[in-house]
Amino acid sequence: MGKTAKELVGEKAEEIITELNKALADEWLAYVQYLMAASIVKHPNAAKELEAVAKEELEHAEELTERILQLGGKPVVDQKQLYEITNCGYEAPSEETLQSLRGALKGENCAIKIYHKIAMMAKDTDVVTYNLVLHIMEEEIDHEERFEALVEWIEG
Ligand SMILES: [Fe+2]
Ligand SMILES: [Fe+2]
Repeated sequence: MGKTAKELVGEKAEEIITELNKALADEWLAYVQYLMAASIVKHPNAAKELEAVAKEELEHAEELTERILQLGGKPVVDQKQLYEITNCGYEAPSEETLQSLRGALKGENCAIKIYHKIAMMAKDTDVVTYNLVLHIMEEEIDHEERFEALVEWIEG
């Protein structure tokens, strides 16, 4: 399976694997960041939403991992390396709900741009990756809307 997938993508495979690994680092960091935020923020409804979104980031990490393996790449597994290759970084969460949500929004904003970039890169050479990152990007757009709505609600 890996062989054919890689053949179809051709020369661009290495470049795509690199970008998918950087996005994978973003997803793992977002997953941990949101789970930690959910465990400490003061508003229970924000905690619930952060936990629900964290689960979707975990799904994204799993989906990206699967695609990297199909392309014959090695998914990043070294915790320290996550911080070296991430695009969107890690914003340490705070008990202050608004601060945690703003940190999360920064990540979503970054993720949307990154997936758009990968989609454009994969469009003509790797339709499977293209479809995957479009699907993920749609969910990141949904996350941004959900966090924005929470910020508005808390700010009153
Ligand atoms: Fe994600
Ligand atoms: Fe997200």
